[in-house]
This record gives sequence, structure tokens and C-alpha cells, in this order.
Amino acid sequence: MLDLHSHILPGLDDGPQTEAESITMIKCMDKLGFKHIVASPHYIQGLYENSSDIVSSAVKNIWSRFEENNISTQIISANEVFIDSVFNDSGEMADFHVCGRKCPFILLEAPFNSFMIETLYNIIFELTNKQVKVILVHPERSMELVRHFHLFEELVARDVKLQVNLMSLIGAYGNHSRMVAEKLLEENMVFGIGSDIHTVKQAAHDIPKALIRINELIGEVRLSLMMKNAKEELGVCS
Ligand SMILES: [Fe+2]
Repeated sequence: MLDLHSHILPGLDDGPQTEAESITMIKCMDKLGFKHIVASPHYIQGLYENSSDIVSSAVKNIWSRFEENNISTQIISANEVFIDSVFNDSGEMADFHVCGRKCPFILLEAPFNSFMIETLYNIIFELTNKQVKVILVHPERSMELVRHFHLFEELVARDVKLQVNLMSLIGAYGNHSRMVAEKLLEENMVFGIGSDIHTVKQAAHDIPKALIRINELIGEVRLSLMMKNAKEELGVCS
């Protein structure tokens, strides 16, 4: 399985603070069958400025501990980039990590509360001009989108990929997010799923429950097809 979004690197953001926690989380995900995990520490200017080099070296460090811990998962470097932080003052893309071997994908995060949809559209337009594709992370947590479901359709029409959080399906972020996540899955509008794990507890207890739920909702065949397609688009080898 492919996890498109996680906070598993130690000491970079509000995810695990120690290498031991980080390894425990990755072990849990490995046991659950996630053989590819996108590590996506926050990139928020002035708060979490995890540059491309910082992410790459954190991934290298944690990877060096895999053999002794019997972990067979592969980690893909990325950032979860807040919409205000995509471009620097000179209008250039800030120094974050994109993922994707065939073409660059940015994991883009919109605010949870109100924001101007035009701002998001402008950023998507600018990124598209730079040949960068957008994976919008947990859009079901953005109340601006949740309130106007047609916006999800508009985003998909603009070739924006929607990444739903597994934990939304067990109500971790409230009922509205859960219902929208279910509807997006029902309507086949989801590009891929993300654990968005920040803690050992989430990896050990919440993600197993959420996996049961997604299998109830769409079944194993559709779930693996979704992941297969996402892997192909990202150029991830199975
Ligand atoms: Fe996240």
C-alpha cells in the first residue's frame, strides 16, 4: 500500500520528536502493509522551514536504521506545503521537497477555516505553469471546501489530485470531514489516501481501524486499484 502523506521524521515538525518514536511509527505502518510512505513534514514559512535538503537528510538518517529494525518500507521525500508558503517574496517556488519521478507533485495544504478559493486557484494556476502537479492534502478538513461540495468537482476538473486522510473515515476530525471523505470516495474523486500520522498512537491504533473502515466503504479491489494508479502517476516502483 501507498501512504501519500505522513509526519514520521523525527524533530522536524509536530510529528515524532525522537528517532525511537519515528521507528516505532514506521514499523507499525510496515506491518500494516504500507510498503511506500511519503514523508511530508510541514513547510510553513516562519514556522516549519523544512527545506529540501533537511528532508532528504532526515530520510537518509532514518533509512539507515531500517535494516537493524527489519523495516522493508520505502520512504519517499516530500513536504506538506501550506498555501501561503509555496512562493517566496521573489515569486519563485520556495525551497521545499516535491515528490514524483515522472513529474513533480507538490503536497499542498489549504487552511482548515475560511479562505479565498481564488487564492487557491491562483496558486494552482502558477504551479501548473511551472509544470508542477498539485496533490491537495486532506481537502475534507478545509471547511471552505466542505461547505461548497461543487468546489471539489472544480478542483478535479483542474487536474488537482485529492488526497483523503484515512483518519477522517473514523471521525477523527469531526462528522463533516467524515461525511465528505466518504462522499469523495463514493464519487471516485480520490487520488490516494494518507495516514497523516503524527504520533505512535495514531499509527498503532487509529490507522488499523481506519483501514477496516475504508475496506468496508470501497472494498479491497478498489482500494488497491486507487493505490496502483497513484503509484504509477508518481513513478513509484512496486
Ligand atoms: Fe499533515
